[in-house]
Amino acid sequence: MDFPSTEPFRIKMVENIFRSTRAQRENWIKEASYNLFNLRSEQVFIDLLTDSGTGAMSDKQWAAMMVGDESYAGASSYYKLKDAIKDITGFSYFLPTHQGRAAENVLFSVLVKEGDIVPGNSHFDTTKGHIEFRKAEAVDCTVDISSDITKYHPFKGNVDIQKLENVLKSNPADKISCIIVTITNNTAGGQPVSMANLRTVGKLASVYGVKFIIDSARFAENAYFIKQREDGYADKDIREIVREMFSYADGMTMSSKKDAIVNMGGFIGFRDEELFRLASTYNIIYEGFITYGGMSGRDMNALAQGLYEGTEFSYLESRIRQVAYLGNKLKEYGIPVLEPFGGHAVFIDAKKILPEIPGEEFPAQTLAIEIYLEGGVRVVELGALMADRDPVTRENRFPDLEMVRLAIPRRVYTNNHLDYVAVTVKNVFERRDSIKHGVRIKWEAPILRHFTIALERI
Ligand code: F0G
Repeated sequence: MDFPSTEPFRIKMVENIFRSTRAQRENWIKEASYNLFNLRSEQVFIDLLTDSGTGAMSDKQWAAMMVGDESYAGASSYYKLKDAIKDITGFSYFLPTHQGRAAENVLFSVLVKEGDIVPGNSHFDTTKGHIEFRKAEAVDCTVDISSDITKYHPFKGNVDIQKLENVLKSNPADKISCIIVTITNNTAGGQPVSMANLRTVGKLASVYGVKFIIDSARFAENAYFIKQREDGYADKDIREIVREMFSYADGMTMSSKKDAIVNMGGFIGFRDEELFRLASTYNIIYEGFITYGGMSGRDMNALAQGLYEGTEFSYLESRIRQVAYLGNKLKEYGIPVLEPFGGHAVFIDAKKILPEIPGEEFPAQTLAIEIYLEGGVRVVELGALMADRDPVTRENRFPDLEMVRLAIPRRVYTNNHLDYVAVTVKNVFERRDSIKHGVRIKWEAPILRHFTIALERI
């Protein structure tokens, strides 16, 4: 008999969580204006809002924190992190930032100007926010199959090379800030990008003379999928795959809060000294001196250690199989889920569950609210609220898919917790016909509205 996939760690410290009653949750969600971001964490039993910054650090990471060097300039923690980044990614130059979006802000301050175009594969919302804030345009060149939620394809996160080449052909190189490929493709459901795809994008970038940047938040999970699914990689080590992925790019932005398993932190990696120098000025203005950016020395130490732990095969295998465990449970209960399951999350098709709720009433947000009311489980909407309004017409954008995402924090929940989550969703699914109305917007911010939006039930 095959052994089940088992976590390559045991639990040393626990944090109590509390169940609430439905009546309490009714009050709390109303007070939160039906925006799950407004809930207090004590009002949540199982928190699948995000896998970002919510992972459990290891004993080695905590130990590394105790010996952090807090010098303003030239801290040994900086050099430790520099060595780890060079070793894992191959990039010789780097700038620390306080998180991923800060890395985007610093890098885009150099690369993106008004009227520019930034092609890529479904840019993450903060990435798009930083592009649109600079009056440039993010052009989504993701493969079409990514919006077919049931069709199997091993690399649904890929860039459609033809679409990308059309953008590159029809615009002068100086209008294209850079190409951004996000691995794994979060917006398309945590789907991986193949090595062949990265290689081709890298070639096109050099043919057309534009920079190729990898948004790397979940680069290790991407490498795991390449090892599992792409010909020629089964026998390669995760770190070897990681280095090859980055070898095709000119730079990377990183939210370390995901695959590097720290609670806060980010960085930019550069191949080229000149770009590093240009970005350094912005890093100093926005983040901090170039040897700490937005990070304390202890946090850089924990990150250096986390980069190694996050690229261990046994860890990645248990993590990604845990996500699939939840996906399979939901599927067993008849719930329409995006397949294949993503690396960090399971995505549920809200339109299929609530077909009568029109787009204007935000079916995915409605489903997310119901899941919270049912079991105190917090998930996130990836639908029209997150898609924001078109920056020019100010009309709502209705993406093809209205999804809710159940993101699994790293090394935090057991499969028992996930059984509870699956039952919560099943109960909502079984009473779906009684959910007749969605929500309407009471107040919204002009950009990245979903974080702070106020809603009311119809
Ligand atoms: N890029 C990707 C692909 C992301 O998923 C995120 C964050 C960022 C950049 C920004 O990084 O949060 O450190 O500033 N994603 C989180 C999520 C918030 O829930 O998916 P950050």
